[in-house]
Amino acid sequence: MKNILITGGAGFIGSHVIRLFVIKYPNDQIFNLDTLTYAGNLENLKDVENANNHTFLKADINNAEEINKLFAKYKFDKVIHLAAESHVDRSIIDPLAFVRTNVIGTVNLLNAAKECWKDDFTDKLFYHVSTDEVYGTLGETGLFTETTSYDPNSPYSASKASSDHFVRAYGETYKLPYMISNCSNNYGPNQFPEKLIPLFIHNIVKEKSLPVYGDGKYTRDWLYVVDHTVAIDLAFHEGKIGETYNIGGFNEWQNIDLIKLLCELMDKKLGRETGSSAKLITYIKDRPGHDKRYAIDATKINKELGWKPSVTFEEGLSKTVDWYLENETWLNNVTSGAYQKYYDKQYL
Ligand code: NAD
Ligand code: DAU
Repeated sequence: MKNILITGGAGFIGSHVIRLFVIKYPNDQIFNLDTLTYAGNLENLKDVENANNHTFLKADINNAEEINKLFAKYKFDKVIHLAAESHVDRSIIDPLAFVRTNVIGTVNLLNAAKECWKDDFTDKLFYHVSTDEVYGTLGETGLFTETTSYDPNSPYSASKASSDHFVRAYGETYKLPYMISNCSNNYGPNQFPEKLIPLFIHNIVKEKSLPVYGDGKYTRDWLYVVDHTVAIDLAFHEGKIGETYNIGGFNEWQNIDLIKLLCELMDKKLGRETGSSAKLITYIKDRPGHDKRYAIDATKINKELGWKPSVTFEEGLSKTVDWYLENETWLNNVTSGAYQKYYDKQYL
């Protein structure tokens, strides 16, 4: 039996990781540490929140003292670190919030783990969840591999790159056992509607405009969130200490093509006339420093650990749309209040 600390477990990807671990590993104690920012929502965990092996800890990774006390109290054996500020547009408005949580928060966790484990690292692991954005941007060809140089362009990706460097530095300097995975764009249920897919689903339902940045010809590699959690589980349990694993969907889409596909799907699901959602598409000014193309080469995790995506994009998108249509209360709850203020500032 292990005490596993998962940070950011009330967020989008974190809640799917918590669900998988709580159900699959009933003999492990799963500690879900989250400060519940605008993106953290315990409603995401309704089905598992009362499980015997799930404990929610409301705490801020920026508060070193609080984090040290929790490590001393619960003696976590392993950490899966997902807590972060995660939205690129917000990082352009407030870079320091990203430095605090993504950089300093990560170093606070590394220090707490190192102190708690007292340099006896037997069966210990700090698993850091990162992004493909640390590699910067690609031209029309090529893929990001685990050896691609870091070249971040946004305050968000710079803060994630910095956190990856700190994790590796603790591995080199103090021999702290770590693993890092760098994943492409996730989509699926429970994603906060500031990110492209849930925002556009929400706007189509409400018949609001669909704000496409620049010419819409930016490319992302999309992965269904549950497939990401399966990859994390596999790497966490079977991966090699000190390694990095790239995780991606082998699924590149230019934004505008994805948006048109989503519009067609939503017209069908909502019983609206074909072409009515596409009429909402509105080109607006570009995101500053907008990365042209991301695409992951996930050969290493495929060859070494046998992972590959299990859900096709068409299936995943259809399931995602169904989830949002069936969970209107969730959507209305998260789009009221603080989010609405951010939306007005970003788009009007
Ligand atoms: P999210 O924004 O949905 O969730 C982040 C969670 O972290 C929230 O529950 C929030 O309350 C919590 N949090 C934020 N600051 C905190 C703090 N100071 N202390 C404690 N908790 C805090 O993010 P997500 O999309 O689920 O991303 C999770 C992780 O995966 C992040 O590290 C992100 O960089 C990485 N990632 C995301 C994607 C993606 O497509 N969403 C892809 C690759 C990697
Ligand atoms: O690649 C992994 C990353 O994917 C994660 O690390 C980040 O946490 C996650 O937010 C995501 O970053 P992106 O910037 O790629 O995702 P976002 O959903 O914000 O945007 C996807 C694309 O759509 C991007 O090219 C910008 C564009 N876009 C986005 C929004 C919100 C628009 O055209 N209009 C919009 O309103």
